[in-house]
This record gives sequence, C-alpha cells and structure tokens, in this order.
Amino acid sequence: MRFLNLQALNAASLGREFSLLVSGLSHANATSLTYRASSLDDWLEQGSQKALQGILNNIGSGGSKVDGASTGIVVASPSKSDPDYFYTWTRDAAMVMKAIVDEYIAGNDDLQPIIHNYISAQAKVQVITNPSGDLESGGLGEAKFNVNETAFTGSWGRPQRDGPALRAITLATYAEWLIDNGHASTAKSIVWPIMLNDLSYVGQYWNATGFDLWEEVKGSSFFTTAVQHRALVQGNSIAKSLGVSCHACTTQAPQVLCLLQSYWTGSYIDSNLGSGRSGKDANSILGSIELFNPAATQCDDTTFQPCSAKALANLKVVVDSFRDLYEVNRETPKNRPVAIGRYPEDVYYGGNPWYLTTYAAAEQLYDAIYQWKKIGKIDVDDVSYEFFKDIDSYISKKLYASGTEEFDKILNTVKSYADGFFDVTFSKDDGHQLSAEDLTWSYTAFLTAANRRRAIVPGPWDESAVRNVPDNCKATAAIGVYATPTNTEWPTSLPSGTPTPAPTPTLPPSCSEVAVRFNEQVTTSPGQDIYIAGSIPQLGSWNPDKAVLLKADMYTSDHALWYATVRLPVGETVKYKYLRKENGGKDIVWENGDDRTLKIPRVCDVEVSTGDAWK
Ligand code: NOJ
Repeated sequence: MRFLNLQALNAASLGREFSLLVSGLSHANATSLTYRASSLDDWLEQGSQKALQGILNNIGSGGSKVDGASTGIVVASPSKSDPDYFYTWTRDAAMVMKAIVDEYIAGNDDLQPIIHNYISAQAKVQVITNPSGDLESGGLGEAKFNVNETAFTGSWGRPQRDGPALRAITLATYAEWLIDNGHASTAKSIVWPIMLNDLSYVGQYWNATGFDLWEEVKGSSFFTTAVQHRALVQGNSIAKSLGVSCHACTTQAPQVLCLLQSYWTGSYIDSNLGSGRSGKDANSILGSIELFNPAATQCDDTTFQPCSAKALANLKVVVDSFRDLYEVNRETPKNRPVAIGRYPEDVYYGGNPWYLTTYAAAEQLYDAIYQWKKIGKIDVDDVSYEFFKDIDSYISKKLYASGTEEFDKILNTVKSYADGFFDVTFSKDDGHQLSAEDLTWSYTAFLTAANRRRAIVPGPWDESAVRNVPDNCKATAAIGVYATPTNTEWPTSLPSGTPTPAPTPTLPPSCSEVAVRFNEQVTTSPGQDIYIAGSIPQLGSWNPDKAVLLKADMYTSDHALWYATVRLPVGETVKYKYLRKENGGKDIVWENGDDRTLKIPRVCDVEVSTGDAWK
C-alpha cells in the first residue's frame, strides 16, 4: 500500500491503489481510505469525496465515528487514546465548518442542516463556564470542550485566542450567503449575536498573550493575529450589511494589522514572537491561506496574501527548515517539495511531518496561481525571488505579464511544484503513521487544497478595506459587548434566492445607562477584598470608603477572578482603579500605574465587560 507517488504515476502506474492518509502525523494501515486512482486529478477528485465523508463521520450526533457527540459538535478525531482527541476544539471546528460552508455555497445543498446544527451548537458552547472564564470574563478563549457540550476542566494551554476569530470568519461567510439570498433577518437574529460575542472577544483581547495554535507557546502568534485581523474586517462588512455596528471591528482592525507587520523578520515570518525558537513554522503558511482573498487586486504584503512576495519567501524558508530534518526528505533534490511538519524544533511524537501542514503548503501555491491569473501579472522582486529562483533557474527578477509564454510557464512550474507536496511519503524515518487517526482537520486540509488546485475558491473578503497600517502600533482594546445568544430557531426552509434590501440602520440607543461588568484577575489571600473606585459617583468618586466591593464566588486557584457589575452612563469616559482592603478595611493598597480609562459604549440591553489584571 503506498501513498501517492507522482513520479511513479507519471511513469505509468495507472490503476494502482493509493491511500489518502489523514492522521495528525504520518500509520501503517490507513486501510479505510485506500482506493484506486489513475491520475493525480482522479486521485484528488476521489479523495475529496472521501475527505468530505470523513469530515461528516466526525460531526455529532449523526456522524458514524463519534457516538456521544451532541448535535452540531465537530469532533477533532474519533481517537480516544494515544492521543485522546475526542473533544471539540473551537479552532478545528471553525476551520472545518468554514470548508463545509464553502462547499455549501459552491452548490452542495445537503450541507445546510449541518451548518445550522453547528451554529446552534456554538450558541450553547459560548455560554459554558470553563476554566478560562464565562462568556463575559474570557471564557470564549477556551481551546476545547467535551463532545457533550460541557467544560473540559483538565490542565491545558489556555487561553487560545484564535478560536473565536476563526468561528467569526465561518459565521460571517454563512451570514453573507444568507444576506445575499434574501435571509438577512435570519442572519441578524441567529448568526450575528454569536458573531458579535466572538468579535467582542477579539477586539478586547487581541493584544493579550495566549497559546499558539499548536497549544505550546504563550505569546503573540502570527496565525492568531492574522485570523483576528480578518475576523474584524469581515465582521465589520457583515455588520454594515445588517445595519448594525461593530465597535470592536472598526476601532481595532487597523491596530491588529499593525501588529501583523511585526512578525516579518526581513526574510521570513517569525511565527511566535520572542518564543526562543527559530519562528520558522507552518503556522505562517496556515495564516496566509486563511487570509487568501480570491478577489484581491494585488499581491498585498501587508495581509500576506498567498501570492505576496513575503508569503512566498516565507514558504521557501519554512519548507527548507524541514529539508534535512526528516529521513524521508533526505533524497529529495533541493528544488523539490518535501514533507513538512509543524516547526523544526517540534518533539511531539518525536517530531514528524504532518499531513495538514504539507497540504497547506500546496494550498498556498494553488491560491497564488489563482491570484496571479486574476491580477494578470507575476512580480518577481528581491523578496519573492528567493522563492522563485529555487523552483526554476530560468525565472529572473522582473514583471511577467499574463498573455505571454513566460507567464504561463511560471504558472505551470509553480503548479507542478505544488503538486509535489502531494507526492511526499510520510514518516520521519520509515513512513509509518502516528498520532490521531481520522483527524477532521486533515480531511479538511486535503479537501481545500484539492479544491484550490481546481480553482474552486471560497468567497472573497475585502482585505483592502483596512490596508493602511498605522505609523505607530498601539496596544489598544475595545470593551467587549457580550450577550447570551438566545435564538436558534432556524426557519424550516432557507433556499437560495434574491437578496433583500439592506435593513435600516439601528437607531442609536435610547437608554441612558448600561450594565458594565468589571473583571479583575488578582491573586488574594483570605481576609483580603478587592474593590473598584473611579471618577464618577457610581464608583465612589475616588473615595475608598465608597468604592464598590467585587465578588469572588468564581475565584479558583487557576482563575483568580474578582468581579462586579455596575450600571454606568452610556457615552461617558470613566477613570478607575482597583484597590485591595484588608484588616477589616483599615489597610488599603491601591494598584500601581496610571488610572484605567473606560469609554462606556452606546449600547443598551447587553452587559459589557472588561478583562483587567492587577497592576
Ligand atoms: C493538536 C494540534 O496542535 C492543535 O492545533 C489542534 O487543534 C489539536 N491537536 C486538535 O486537532
């Protein structure tokens, strides 16, 4: 049994048996997905159907491999031991469902109930109190949940801040389809409230550290920042279509874009700032394909479009970092694709190639080919030359225009190079597969890469809407607006149809006050209490005797949370600080630093919240 080998195929291996291997890492008997194919096209075509089925098998409650999973829950893998992946990760589920939404929009009508189930399940998952907090206090950053929609309470790398952003992107993509097909009111009443929670989380915490997508390093991670930027931009475009506003989107997106630039080292993307690793990591390739805009009119470097010089130079550096690392790569000539893992320093299961990262490298290049054709030129400059010179020595630094033989030749060269990523046999040493079988994300990565090869692309997002990078990056945050999503009553039929006119914009709120929940992370000992005091009477006008006592009934050793909800006047700017009282209130310690500032948003009927930590 063999993984597809292109050379062998070209040399007349028609009708052979091939395996579509989709575990997390590279297993001996992927028998369930072994099938005959006569060409790469045929193999990808058949594989795509099997991959789609593989995904559906892992979604509750009907999925054949995930007994016990609730309706709409996307399970990472049916594997329950070595490793135990029988959970739903917000990240994996969102990326998988993005591909399902794209398939639906491309014409697979049967998938609509699965999408609705996923969205309804997220309305429940968002309000599960978990070790990262509850809906208002940071709980959206929890990485994974039990498949019966309860909190996973074991120790884990938390929080992970890419999940809410990815879910917002998936929901925005489906909301856009609803709006375009005459169902704006459903988008507004069911999808938007869930999206708004996620966008609020992104706007509030994008500048706070969190664990990277591989769940190991705490800091600032390229993939996370990339998807956060897209979520805010795409979220704002949906808000406009629905006639509502997204304060977090408009105020934070430029700053997130600013942070995104800081990952560029001059020759590649440092995927985890200050991690002590090389930073060469498939994180960056996955980030670039998440930012792919098929309607882009330029190969924009600021959003690391797949065809941008920076993203291409980075791809080469990341691929090269695995060249001598794995035994399976050693025979491969320097200018051919190799199997790639997560990052070269990876030691998980001994450090191995991963299918999903290798497929992602192919996908970036198929995306780039799509963009070059659309834009009508390939600009080989100093930065992108680093990528091009390797794959074929005839390519030189200049502008290649479409309609010329040279342009077509480069497209063919890049396509055959990208195809080579499907041609790598997987294993660090001897080709046997490890880790979780039937990884839902791997099926998805196969499906999306195979689609992009056939120029089947997702709908656009307007990456040019926020392209001006601020001169100085600022550490800002928008106060979060969170509310329990209450409506998951999907109309019985939501067929494709004619768009309805945009709803009239919502009038400014008529309420004068809004409930603000102050969340303060602070470790305390018995006998100590935390208060909040501030510049307005509701916060005691800076008088410690009139300060508001915070509650500690959710305080745990993992999550030292004090909180209080106070009604404050909308539109006002309030200064405040926390203070600690002990010894029966006689001893008072104010936290250090400048006063905190809060602009109370003009919203009604929702509770807004802060995410503070003792200074
Ligand atoms: C481990 C991977 O590093 C992480 O990215 C993924 O979310 C989980 N497995 C679940 O698939």
